[in-house]
Amino acid sequence: MNKKISVVIVAAGSGSRFGDPLPKQYHQIGNKPLLRHCVEAFMHICPPGQIQVVYNVDHHLYLEAAIGDLIRHSDLRPAVSGGHTRQQSVLNGLRALKNVTPDHVLIHDAARPGIDSEVINRVLAALLDHAGAIPGIPVADTIKQCDPHCNISRSIPRETLMRAQTPQGFNFQTILDAHEQFEGQEMTDDASLLEQLGIPVKCVTGSDQNDKITRQNDLSRMSEHFTNNQTTLSHPRPEQETRNMPGTTSEEFRTGTGFDVHRFAPGDACMLCGISVPHSARLEGHSDADVGLHALTDAILGAIAAGDIGQHFPPSDPQWKGAASDQFLKHAARLVAGRGGRIVNVDVTLICERPKIGPHTAAMRQAVADILEIDVDRVNIKATTSERLGFTGREEGIAAQASASIALPFVLS
Ligand code: CTP
Ligand code: MG
Repeated sequence: MNKKISVVIVAAGSGSRFGDPLPKQYHQIGNKPLLRHCVEAFMHICPPGQIQVVYNVDHHLYLEAAIGDLIRHSDLRPAVSGGHTRQQSVLNGLRALKNVTPDHVLIHDAARPGIDSEVINRVLAALLDHAGAIPGIPVADTIKQCDPHCNISRSIPRETLMRAQTPQGFNFQTILDAHEQFEGQEMTDDASLLEQLGIPVKCVTGSDQNDKITRQNDLSRMSEHFTNNQTTLSHPRPEQETRNMPGTTSEEFRTGTGFDVHRFAPGDACMLCGISVPHSARLEGHSDADVGLHALTDAILGAIAAGDIGQHFPPSDPQWKGAASDQFLKHAARLVAGRGGRIVNVDVTLICERPKIGPHTAAMRQAVADILEIDVDRVNIKATTSERLGFTGREEGIAAQASASIALPFVLS
């Protein structure tokens, strides 16, 4: 098969049905973000320079954490910006491949991390004598057509029905022309466009593990599959064995620092490092103002070059008003895990005259260890006064600084 193949992976959706601040394509399954699984699966089929990821520019920090190393070190094409609909995102990806002039293109949803070489090869084989081919799964349930009041009008014979999956493969020019022609009209997959034009599309056998992640319970269900069957996925995963193995030479170490300040306001307790500490004032802020967790979140984001807490959780966004800060820290930890990394240790210093921190450090260490899901001996919390000098000395607020050490898989450049 001497055809030049390119791939478009669409990852620009917001995951509204999934309902999490971290879009579903950046969630992890089997220790890697969904998007990374997809990119790696296609890197076994064609050179990285022919794989085009389409993303939402608001997600650039997540994209960097998920596949930034592949773009820098494996010649994966820089991601291009998507649109408001899947169809627009696909068209943007196809346009970005115009100069590559592939014979065939495979269009895949980043929300299908279970794609494997067998399904991809079945689609490619069908493209030898069809302008379009998609993987599908026979429908197992009896299907009813209902009116708007849920009264059944008829049963549809299921023998003729297939659930469409991706990657959907096409002659490149044919699908590019079709997308240009139907730009602005909403269709939920790419084969529909050729169907409208009367161009035959072949359906080949898909796989259950290639089902799309749409809601959170899909992720839990699919996680079981990845834990149980990961080694049976048919594309080789060369680095799988060494990723995450502490102390191997395949890790490199990163450090980051964080600093934060919150002022006192009338109240009776302060949230500090994940626990409520009784005091004659509270800390003021848009979220719960946990100055220790904010500094620590910034330290972890700093270690993986993922910007700062304000970029991930803008204070201008009303959804973070009064938010518990443990979710900010969890988010940073998830980004580390998404890079195949691990948190080696963290250290926080709280700077205040009062409340006295010493009696609470054991509970704080445990709270931080629980949030980060690491051993408590990898967490240190300490405090100092500023000798009554400056704003902390005048008891106007509390400052915190933090550092974090992160181990990431080593990637040869
Ligand atoms: N997609 C895209 N651009 C869009 C919408 C979707 O690139 N404007 C991508 C998604 O990132 C996903 C695939 O198309 O990989 C399938 O879409 P879907 O499962 O519907 O994902 P979302 O649109 O993100 O989810 P939802 O519809 O629940 O908001
Ligand atoms: Mg959608």
